[in-house]
Amino acid sequence: MEFLEKLVLPQSAHHIQLIHYLLIAIFFLFIPYIGTLLVSSIVSLVYWHKGKRSRNELYLDFAASVIRIPTLNKSIGFVLGILPILTITFMISQIMHGAGTYVLQLLFVSFIMGTIGVILLYTFRYSLDFQRLYTNIDEKVRDTEINSEIKEKSRHVVRLADKTGLWGIIFLSAALWLLFSATTLIVNPPMWQSSLFSLIFSWRVLLFVIQFLAVASSIMGAVMLFAYFYWEGGITNENEDLLSYIKTICLRITFGGSLLLPVFIAVTLLSVNSNYLSGSVFVFSLLSLIFLLLAYNLLYAVIKEKNTRYSGLVFFLILFTAFSVIIKDQAVMSNATEQQAVILDSQFQEYLAGLTGNRGTEEVSGKEIFDVRCSSCHKFDQKLVGPAYKDVLPKYEGKIDQLTGFVLNPVKKNPEYPPMPNPGLKPNEAKAVAGYIMETYKK
Ligand code: HEC
Repeated sequence: MEFLEKLVLPQSAHHIQLIHYLLIAIFFLFIPYIGTLLVSSIVSLVYWHKGKRSRNELYLDFAASVIRIPTLNKSIGFVLGILPILTITFMISQIMHGAGTYVLQLLFVSFIMGTIGVILLYTFRYSLDFQRLYTNIDEKVRDTEINSEIKEKSRHVVRLADKTGLWGIIFLSAALWLLFSATTLIVNPPMWQSSLFSLIFSWRVLLFVIQFLAVASSIMGAVMLFAYFYWEGGITNENEDLLSYIKTICLRITFGGSLLLPVFIAVTLLSVNSNYLSGSVFVFSLLSLIFLLLAYNLLYAVIKEKNTRYSGLVFFLILFTAFSVIIKDQAVMSNATEQQAVILDSQFQEYLAGLTGNRGTEEVSGKEIFDVRCSSCHKFDQKLVGPAYKDVLPKYEGKIDQLTGFVLNPVKKNPEYPPMPNPGLKPNEAKAVAGYIMETYKK
């Protein structure tokens, strides 16, 4: 991952802001798709085993129908499932540049595992299709030799489906788990130095995984309803029993997922450090609940009137719910990395100054800035409005960039003090005063 760190230059604040918007756009595509793929694989595998055990053709057909939608064609898995993880990795590497975390390693492993998972699940889908095909041919052909050959082939794809289905789900789940570990790490700066193990198995990650599963189940059911009953008038050349079974089960899954969702939206909000909650975090949490409420109403109508007319609307409402949840989480991420963004911006300004040969933007004096802008609230050895420097500076030993980041954009630190107002310094001024107080407090 070193190479990624080196590849990436510190970016301006505008650029970082842009990356946050792009991340939102990518998650809009990625989360609904990968959620649908994961949940339909699980449902498909469960019904596949159930169908094999009870020799129930309906279950087997259902298993094949469910996995068919997210693996509609060869490119969709790559474009919506694999490519986004790679792009997310590149974007996050810019946001977290120089923060010294293992976020990139996590994302890279997640990308590899996700790729393997998606390929295995495609293989699973095709083996189910072949098995259904062989069964159909077997019923129609009356020739013992051909029949036995078909049976042999069929057994082979059954074994293939068993293996690829299970391992596909395991790899994809592991990939997503690591992805959520990475995003959880980003929004918890105090964890940046903690061990990999304690991160991956922390309850915070678990909360986000469950929130994702709730979103994913709601979407998966809604996608199936949309694809089988709404899109281009719905699919009409399937047998009636199968269609009505798809409807019943997918409605249940959507309903179950969307009932869980509000609980986990609330719980994840509570788990976030209160410094990172902002107006937009609450607005989008609220929006997601409103969309959900509307979706419940329509779902109820679909169940009650046994009419799939509303399934298109249900699909869009659930999608908007997911979008709101994504924006909420991204808003938290952008708040949590604000200080990191300020550090990057100041490094960027320096880099720019270096490039234009304009290094000597006249020497600014740290002492002067301290006297004029800080001394009204701070002394070195005694608390005033703000804490004494000798009490707060030791923790910035060797972390001058973080101190500069704080001075550029103070965040709430100690509950015993009021928040420090933003002194409105330029990056080079903040750097100078940070250097000055760090040198002076030890004397
Ligand atoms: C209006 C009063 C005020 C001014 C002016 C002010 N500060 Fe502060 N400063 C505070 C307060 C209050 C806190 C405690 C904030 C907290 O703990 O949330 C603080 C905290 C700090 C801290 C400790 C941060 C930490 O991590 O605990 C540093 C370092 C600091 N200020 C540096 C500066 C510098 C450098 C300047 C001048 C550019 C400055 N302050 C100007 C009020 C001020």
